[in-house]
Amino acid sequence: MITLNNIAFKYRDDEVYALDHISIRFNSGEWTSIIGHNGSGKSTLVKIIMGIIEEYEGDIYVDGELLNIESKQTLRRKFAIVFQNPDNQFVGATVEDDVAFGLENLGLDRAEMVKRTEHALGLVNMLDFRKHEPHRLSGGQKQRVAIAGALAMKPEVLILDEATSMLDPSGRKEVLSILSELHERLDTTILFITHDLTEIAESDKVIVMNNGQIVAEGSLEEVYKDKNLLLESNLKVPYTMEISDALLDGSYMTHEELVRRL
Ligand SMILES: Nc1ncnc2c1ncn2[C@@H]1O[C@H](COP(=O)(O)OP(=O)(O)O)[C@@H](O)[C@H]1O
Ligand SMILES: [Mg+2]
Repeated sequence: MITLNNIAFKYRDDEVYALDHISIRFNSGEWTSIIGHNGSGKSTLVKIIMGIIEEYEGDIYVDGELLNIESKQTLRRKFAIVFQNPDNQFVGATVEDDVAFGLENLGLDRAEMVKRTEHALGLVNMLDFRKHEPHRLSGGQKQRVAIAGALAMKPEVLILDEATSMLDPSGRKEVLSILSELHERLDTTILFITHDLTEIAESDKVIVMNNGQIVAEGSLEEVYKDKNLLLESNLKVPYTMEISDALLDGSYMTHEELVRRL
């Protein structure tokens, strides 16, 4: 779906690369998690994919087509993004206005806009809140509305850049369970960026970043086996994993799974 070939980028005057010649493939229908500590280059990568940073080295292909000045507008329509801060992404006075806002640029007729808005809010279980004011919602609900806004654009890839990191535990759970449902029911291609290893249980593929480089790539189990690499990459091994290591087989499991197996 998206192929990155040798992508490199330095912020102005910096000596080191924020992204140091990385190559990745994101496959259609897969949930790919990119994990890395603060400053490892995750958001820079997202900015390049989304076109917020344009002067990078290397090539990006989307569905086999080179992303360049002529193709970029059409190709980037296939991506939609949800950012970290739930309070920075609202423009509409009501939940439904907010979801519809992004659609206005697509030149759709009103009936289609209403249909898409309702469908997207239904997918994130927020239809009952459509007349509510966004700022009164909980953090988890706000991010679900932001996901609906992204889904209404009918993207081929949904990108989430630390979209759960400002939420409380119940908000995180809400957002992760909605994403997991979308991934299962609709086969949505998900690019999930996080520094939190407890959030990657659903991944088909995990990419570990450190100092602007990819230091590991593979299935959850493969990446998870190399605890030293995770520690060297400044990633915190979740407490559930320490217990799994000490008392069970040390495999990756969610909190719920750990409780069940204990
Ligand atoms: N706007 C910016 N100007 C200069 N340096 C930046 C800017 N944004 C990020 N950086 C630097 O680039 C590196 C990667 O940052 P970033 O991509 O935001 O990492 P992450 O999202 O993994 O926390 C860090 O060293 C960071 O300090
Ligand atoms: Mg970031």
